[in-house]
Amino acid sequence: MFGFGKKKDYTATILNTGESFEVKGGINLLQAAMNAGVKWPHECRVGSCGSCRATVKKGKIKALNDFAYVLDGAQLKSGMVLACQTRLQSDVEIEVDFEQGAIN
Ligand code: FES
Repeated sequence: MFGFGKKKDYTATILNTGESFEVKGGINLLQAAMNAGVKWPHECRVGSCGSCRATVKKGKIKALNDFAYVLDGAQLKSGMVLACQTRLQSDVEIEVDFEQGAIN
């Protein structure tokens, strides 16, 4: 069967730096960024610290975990996600604050 069981590949573009990278095989956004050499802020990688947060400006994602454990209502409403708990469902355009630290 065509494409059965195979995850699609997408492209993520960081709007504030102009960097683009491939997100292949259904890996999470943070892992893909690190594989591409992007110095994306992160600490826990399990969705609890908030340091990998970024704002999705365009595109569709799937949350692997409930972001509301870490992000507040205003952040969620603005399109903020946790990159370590985000899988892409389309190409995306995102903004990343490279100076940010953990929330919790
Ligand atoms: S690295 Fe801690 S929430 Fe993503």
